[in-house]
This record gives sequence, C-alpha cells and structure tokens, in this order.
Amino acid sequence: MRITVIGCGYLGAVHAACMAELGHDVIGIDIDDAKIAGLAAARPPFYEPGLPELLERALAGGRLRFSTDMADAAGSAVHFIAVGTPQRARENAADLRFVDAAIESLIPWLRDGDLIAGKSTVPVGTARRLAERVGLSETGATLAWNPEFLREGLAIEDTLHPDRLVFGLPDGDHERELDLLEQVYAGALDDGTPLVVTDYETAELVKVSANAFLATKISFINAMAEVCEVVGADVTQLADAIGYDARIGRRFLNAGLGFGGGCLPKDIRAFMARAGELGADQALTFLREVDRINMRRRERAVDLARETLGGSLLGRRIAVLGLAFKPDSDDVRDSPALNVAAQLSLQGAAVICHDPRAVPNARRRFPELTYTESLDEALADVDAVMVLTEWQEYRDLDPALTAAQVATSNIVDGRNCLDPEVWRAAGWRYRALGRRRAEALATALA
Ligand code: UDX
Repeated sequence: MRITVIGCGYLGAVHAACMAELGHDVIGIDIDDAKIAGLAAARPPFYEPGLPELLERALAGGRLRFSTDMADAAGSAVHFIAVGTPQRARENAADLRFVDAAIESLIPWLRDGDLIAGKSTVPVGTARRLAERVGLSETGATLAWNPEFLREGLAIEDTLHPDRLVFGLPDGDHERELDLLEQVYAGALDDGTPLVVTDYETAELVKVSANAFLATKISFINAMAEVCEVVGADVTQLADAIGYDARIGRRFLNAGLGFGGGCLPKDIRAFMARAGELGADQALTFLREVDRINMRRRERAVDLARETLGGSLLGRRIAVLGLAFKPDSDDVRDSPALNVAAQLSLQGAAVICHDPRAVPNARRRFPELTYTESLDEALADVDAVMVLTEWQEYRDLDPALTAAQVATSNIVDGRNCLDPEVWRAAGWRYRALGRRRAEALATALA
C-alpha cells in the first residue's frame, strides 16, 4: 500500500520506517530540510536503537523516501499525521498549530477515497473538528484517529508488535476506513494483536488516559517514597511486596526522580486543560497532585545532596551521572535529571555532568553547565556522586574502584538502581529517595 507519513520526528520517523519494513511503499514528509536530509541518509536526528539499520534497509529496498514537498503525498491511500503537539508556552494546553497546518497543506493533494489517519496525541474533540474540515474540502477523503503508544528506546518493537491497536472511526458506515487500516496493520492483526474499533473521542481518550494512568502509578509509588522517608521504611521493598499482587503489578512502580520526557508531563497537563474547557475539570484534579508529587521528587533530590554534603552545596563538587529522561535515550525534554543538575548548579555547587548519549542535547538546553563524555573525568575528585538516570553503565559501577576516584565517598541514588549494601560495604555513604538512611537502618536492626 502507498502510505504518507507527515511529520518525521520521533513518532513519524519510526512509523515511516516500520511501515516500509512491513512492505508498504512509504513517503515521509517534514518541513525541516535538515531532518529530511538526515533521514534520507539513514541518520535520524535522535538516538533510537535499531532505527538507522531499519532506515538503511528500507531506503536501499526503495520502499521508503523522504521529502519536504507535500505534493509527494498525492497518490497515497493512507496519510498518517504524526506531527508534534507540544505544550503551549505559559499554558497547560496542547499547541495544535502543527496538526492544523499539516491538514491544510495536505488537503490540495487528497483524492476521493483517501484516508487521513491521525497519530499525534491530541485533546479530545480534535478529530471531530478535523473531520469536519476535511469534509468541507469536498475531496472525498475521510479521517480516522489511530493513537500511537510507542516508548522511546523500544519504539520499533512497539510499532511492529503493539500491545493493541485502536481505530477511532467516523460515525455511521465506516467499512472503507476499517478496511484500509486493516490492510496497513495486516501483519500485527494476523499475529493476534487486540483491536479496539471505536469512535473518535474514545480513541483520543485512550491515549491520554493510558498516559495519565502510567503517570499516576509512578507518582503513587513516589508518594509512598515520601512516607517511607519519614518513617525510615524502604520503598523498593514496598514496591516489590505490593507488586506481587497481580492486580497491582510491579511494572512502573520504580520510585525515584519521577517521570519526564516529551509525553507524560505534557500529556497530563493538556488533559487537565481540556477537561477544564469541557467543564469536567473536577474529574482530573487528582492529576494536578500527580504532577506536584512528581516535581517534588526533584526538589527532594537536591535536598538529599545538600544533606549528604553537610548542609551546604556552595562550592562542593558533584558528579551528576545521567541527563536523559530515561536510560537508552538521548532525550532531555523535561528530564528530571537535567532539572536536578541545573538546580544544584544554581544553588552554588560545582556540577560536572555525564551521560552516555544525552550530553549534546543537554548542552544545547543548558549551555552554562559543565559536561564531560568521560565517566572517569566526571568522577575525579568529587565530593558526591548523584545517579539520576539508571543507565546500565552506572548500575555496573564498581564501588571500590569508584571510591578510589572520588574525593569523598558520598553517593545519592536518584533512581534506586544500586545495591545499598554493596556500596555501604565498600565504605560509601549511600542515600536514596524513599530508602532509609544507614543510621536509621542500624537503629531498626538493633
Ligand atoms: C511514554 C509511554 O510509556 C508511551 O506509551 C507513550 O506513548 C509515550 O510516553 P516514554 O516517554 O518513552 O513513553 O517513556 P516511559 O518509558 O513511559 O517513561 C516515562 C518516564 O517515567 C521516564 O522519565 C521514566 O524514567 C519514568 N519512570 C518509568 C519512573 O520514574 N518509574 C517507573 O517505574 C517507570
């Protein structure tokens, strides 16, 4: 099938490459010349494991092309909209400018029977409004909403083998739309992927409510971490114990610095803003608390660093390990780790930041911080080490060898990813979010 993917950012670039991998004939379109030139040479503008290889294969096989010219959309049966919907400046609501512009510039190239399939995360009501606009164009094209749930770092797997597919279709007869989407996803459907066929509004809400649920799960365990800190309990053991209950489940119950990235924070804020516009704000006031708990963890991490360093950060040398919002990513959008690094620096600490992948992006965002791509350089002579993103290479650090590199063996584990016993046994003062201090542990054991 001939497919267009409009918007070649994270979502679009991965979607285009995966559609080509499935055997479709794909044209990826974006207004950014540099992005298109990079993708056409199999060099995506972000780090995603496996994507360069996938692009290379599809480009070489002639099943994938990239263009900045919307005219190239003409002739496709399905046109995916995968442009960004960022948070508006100084507001919680989503900015739909790029979605609207994509539809407007696509309309002149549509043919009778074409299907536009929205993938971007949008406020509920957007699909119906866009469908009306497409209807007015009298092109004979129609619209479906087909939300995407991919996780960065696992984006290819999530696109090729999704947990579920959701098709939000027009009211009334929608056999043609259903048939086209079933052809696009024939492979996944043959594999038994669950399919939910529904209306526009439900499809839009599935995406934002899934993200709201995940954010709530993380903030729930982080709220428990706050209580654990007060009473000297251990949130990681607590998470293990409640996670054994299949109704609760252990996944997404890792306490620490909380969630960040390009989706969860902005999506829950946009969801609250939309509920407010619809007069249903009370239903989502709990998300405000979810957001607050999440932001408080960052302050707590800074406090923990200060406590560890005897009450003041001024002039103290701190190695910040991790800048990406999660491991296996170079994305620093709303990254808790980068936020903490900046706070430490603003409060007078001499911070040296390391990340295996995210240093260039972090440097662009906060040029005033000091960065290094060498872990040894980051650790040299520091008064404290803070692990803020749980990259495998930090989990694998040897406490004894690391102790020989730093000036003072203080470590703050912002992601509960290290074994406190092993680090303490090697002479480290280990502190973590939601875990008891060694002193409290000694009292508890006495
Ligand atoms: C998320 C959703 O998972 C995905 O379905 C949606 O389509 C887009 O948003 P992503 O942004 O890639 O995907 O990140 P995810 O893996 O969900 O992690 C989000 C944040 O939560 C990260 O900052 C991560 O460090 C944090 N997190 C995750 C925790 O703090 N604790 C956990 O237990 C899990």
